[in-house]
Parts: sequence; structure tokens; C-alpha cells
Amino acid sequence: MMSNAYQLRAKWLALRNRLLANPRFQRWAVDFPLTRPLAQRRARELFDVTAGFVYSQILFACVQLDLLPFLAAGPRSRDELALHLDLDEAGTLRLLKAATSLGLVEPWPDGGYGLGAQGAALLGNPGIAAMVEHHAMLYADLADPVALLRGEGGPTRLGAYWSYAASAEPDGLEAGEVADYSRLMSASQSLVAGDILDACSLQDRRCLLDVGGGEGRFVASVAARWPHLRLQLFDLPAVGAQAQARFEREGLADRAQAFGGNMLADALPRGADVISLVRVVHDHDDAAVRRLLAAAHAALPPGGTLLLAEPLAGTPGAEPMGEAYFGFYLLAMGSGRPRTPAELTAMLEQAGFVRVRQRRTRRPLLTGLITAEVA
Ligand SMILES: C[S@@+](CC[C@H](N)C(=O)[O-])C[C@H]1O[C@@H](n2cnc3c(N)ncnc32)[C@H](O)[C@@H]1O
Repeated sequence: MMSNAYQLRAKWLALRNRLLANPRFQRWAVDFPLTRPLAQRRARELFDVTAGFVYSQILFACVQLDLLPFLAAGPRSRDELALHLDLDEAGTLRLLKAATSLGLVEPWPDGGYGLGAQGAALLGNPGIAAMVEHHAMLYADLADPVALLRGEGGPTRLGAYWSYAASAEPDGLEAGEVADYSRLMSASQSLVAGDILDACSLQDRRCLLDVGGGEGRFVASVAARWPHLRLQLFDLPAVGAQAQARFEREGLADRAQAFGGNMLADALPRGADVISLVRVVHDHDDAAVRRLLAAAHAALPPGGTLLLAEPLAGTPGAEPMGEAYFGFYLLAMGSGRPRTPAELTAMLEQAGFVRVRQRRTRRPLLTGLITAEVA
């Protein structure tokens, strides 16, 4: 039997949807002063969803042509820009006008162009440009989204790029097969590490183990923030070797050690009282995540802490980032899914963790953080 609340909601939604789909109502809503701002905002949002792939390709062109770094020192004339972009006058102007509308560049009164607010923000974080460039693979993989959803798309480019996603024996991967994604992860790690470390103190911990720690950028940030900590890193052997080389290069080898192995099959190294999983869990399907969380629980002593940091599904104000962007990104990659804090909490509790808490981070769009403890 359906409850009254359910029936009331169903009636209201049916009425709302009938109205919103009605062209006469739509015309009225944009004409009537009180509903106009909302109606115009809704129309713009619908247009953005419809046209978003075009915006992304304009950004891609700007990154490929190195437009934003060229404007870093100040505005340039259109002739200078045409020369730098290697485009004719019409192509230059078309790109500049489109980039202006997206806030990437800004016209100057003398006819030249300078950086726009979004362009400046993007330039301040080189990790974004690296992301945009690698999106060329995702763009190709999403050309037929229905085939992808049906599992009929065949091998994907992202699946080959994230070589561990489809590999039955990821610990056998060679340096050349892990280098590209490891570089991309390193490029985008500094903001992530800062936000995690600002959200939780490691003052009372002795040793941190970063599982799936890549080439060691997060461990290096932890080392700088907390000089008393000993550090360990676990990743695939080919990636762990790169991390160990970083520790030696950066004078951290007396405090930090990298281990190579398969975190989905091997036991994790012992001795740490805090384990971090940074942008790792969302890459894997539920069964693998259950195994990984159980291994982390087994490796920690009583009172030990787990830090799980990654973009979370259902983040208020950033909903499309989770289920839309990561949902389809990970589908193209071939494993994993974005998870909500509630889903992760349930999985952590199932693995034996207690006191599971979501922490506030500076940029939840980029990094959500959940901590959990061993009783
Ligand atoms: C998305 S990257 C995140 C890297 C790093 N934590 C960061 O945030 O920059 C995932 C990492 O997990 C590692 N990884 C994937 N599968 C693994 C496995 N089965 N065993 C060990 N490491 C694995 C990858 O090599 C990669 O370094």
C-alpha cells in the first residue's frame, strides 16, 4: 500500500513536470517578473547540459594551443596571438570569443586579449591542464555512451591508460605501463594533500602507510607537514620503485620506505598507526574494496586510524561531479564507481572500523574525507 506522503509527492511531481514541459507555461514563466530569474536560470542550466561537450572541447583547444600560459605575463595583441596559436585571423578570433564567453580569456580595450578569471584559476593549478589533455581519451570512449553502458563498446582508451583497471595481475605491470597515469596523479596531488592535511591532524601518530600512494607526492607532503612521522608507501612494484626513487632524491629515505605488491591480494605492511587511501577506493568494484578495507583493518593496531580521501558521490552543490563525471569516467575505465559517504560508511563498518566520520575539507568537489578507527 502506498502511503499518503508518497501519493502526495507523486501528484505534485506529475503536476510540476506537466507544467515544465508545457511551452505556454514556459513562455509565461520567462515573461512573469517573479518567475523570470528562475526560468532563465533553468533554461541556461538545460543549455549547459546540452552543450557541455562543446565547452570542454573549446577548453581542450586552449590547452592544446598553450593559450593560457601565453597570456600569463599579460595581455597580447591579436596578431601576436594568431602567430602563437598558428591560426588564421578568423580562427583566432573565433577561439578567443568562445574562450571569453567561458571566462578563460578577457578582451582588452586595445583589441588584445588577457587572461580571464577562470583562465587564471586554471593556470594556477597545472594539474587541471594535464587532466584536460587526458580527457581526449574519455571523449573518444564516450562517443557511444549507450554501447558503453551495455558493455558493448569493446576495449576503451581509458582502460588501457589505467592499466591496473583491467589487469588480472597488476603487480606484473612494467614501468612504461604505469608511467603516464602516475605522472597525471602526481600533477594533481598537491592541492589534494594540502586539503587532507588541513582537515585532520597527525600530531599524535607515529607512522603513516599510504596505500596506492603512487609516486609518493602525498607521502612527501605528509613528511613536510609532520616531521616526526615515519612513512611507508604501498603500490604496484613498478610504481613503488618510482616512489622510492623520489624518497631518495628528496632526502626522505631515512624516514620513508616504499613497498611493491598487489593491495587486492597481498597483506599490507605492518607497523603504521594510520593508513591513507587517497583517490584509490573509487577505482575498484565493491568486492575488491571490501577486501582492501579488511586488509587495512588487519594491518592497523587498536586505536589505528584510516583516512579515506576521494571525490564523494552526492557532494552537496557538486552532484554532477560524482555520479555523472566519475560515474561515466570509471565506467570507461572499466572498474570502480563513485560512492556516497553513507555507502563508504557502511563498507567501513562492515570491515570492522568504528567511529566513522566525514570531515569537512576546503574543496569537497576535489577531495572528500572520511576517517575511521580500529577499536
Ligand atoms: C588513482 S591513483 C591514486 C594515486 C595517489 N594516491 C594519488 O592520489 O595521487 C591509484 C593508485 O593505486 C595504485 N593501484 C591500483 N591497483 C593497485 C593494486 N592492485 N595494488 C597496489 N596498488 C594499486 C595505482 O598504481 C595508483 O598509483
